[in-house]
Amino acid sequence: MMIIHKEAKSLSAFTERRIFTASARAAMLHILSALTEKDDRKILLPAYIGLSKIEGSGVFDPVRAAGMPHGFYGLSERLVPDIQCIENQLRTGQYKAVFLIHYFGCCQTDLQTLVDLCHDYDALVIEDCAHTVLGGLGPQRLGSYGDFSIHSIHKSLATTDGGFLFDNKGQLAQRPVAEVSRISRQSLETWANTDVVSASKRRRENFFRVASCIERVGGVEPLFNTIAACEVPLNFPVLVPDNRREALYFRLMEAGVAPTALYHTLIPEISREEFPLAYRTADTILNLPTHPDILEQHWPTYLEHLEIAIKETI
Ligand SMILES: Cc1ncc(COP(=O)(O)O)c(C=O)c1O
Repeated sequence: MMIIHKEAKSLSAFTERRIFTASARAAMLHILSALTEKDDRKILLPAYIGLSKIEGSGVFDPVRAAGMPHGFYGLSERLVPDIQCIENQLRTGQYKAVFLIHYFGCCQTDLQTLVDLCHDYDALVIEDCAHTVLGGLGPQRLGSYGDFSIHSIHKSLATTDGGFLFDNKGQLAQRPVAEVSRISRQSLETWANTDVVSASKRRRENFFRVASCIERVGGVEPLFNTIAACEVPLNFPVLVPDNRREALYFRLMEAGVAPTALYHTLIPEISREEFPLAYRTADTILNLPTHPDILEQHWPTYLEHLEIAIKETI
């Protein structure tokens, strides 16, 4: 019997438990479809989930498509999960999974403690890393704490589709991805050919360029006071006071700078009466671009327009 083969037969010890999909929402549907087969307990979702006319809801559409019953937990105005609220809900014994969104690529809580809490109540954890394709640049990345994580390739790379999930405990190894949920070959090639680490480093540097402009100019409040050393935020979120968000948005658009507002509209299942803080964020948030495709020569103009727009509208 051969003990040492001339070539490796398997590199399973070196492969990641990554399953490619067409998008983060397709990744989520793949996970939830498996979970709904087990029993009819619910999924606990954060009460800050958006809806857009064009894209629907990247988070809630798969929950609905999987036919999974759900409940919500509260967050602070700065999107920090309310741990007490999560524990109160878990104590009811109605939940089999907790969904944690790392909004804009930043984790706002002690993740390990929260994951341990969920596991203590026999609930799986799904981390939503749609806003941070690598989960950060450090050794223990977002997406590696929970049982599953979902990621979006097209939100961070210039592709038309693409996402993946990490099946951290190998629970979905035997489950094929539905034909409609598969990633396109073109996006997979772009993923393989892109230096995602360097692009992420540039995105992080850009975050700090906008941060120092905002710190100097004032008028709006950064959503994050600090970010962890290895986090890669998707963009630079700010809270715009005094109902001036729309005015600032359109002033920037006029100047050729395109912000977004994630999420200006929440799904109707999240009620304003029950979750007033979520609505306060939804009514004031504006996300400034920091993507790695901003050319060096455009930075002075961008920051100058940003400063003028804030001074004129706030
Ligand atoms: C937090 C969050 N999760 C998941 C998604 C879905 O991402 P994708 O467009 O890759 O399906 C989105 C965006 O729609 C999102 O903002």
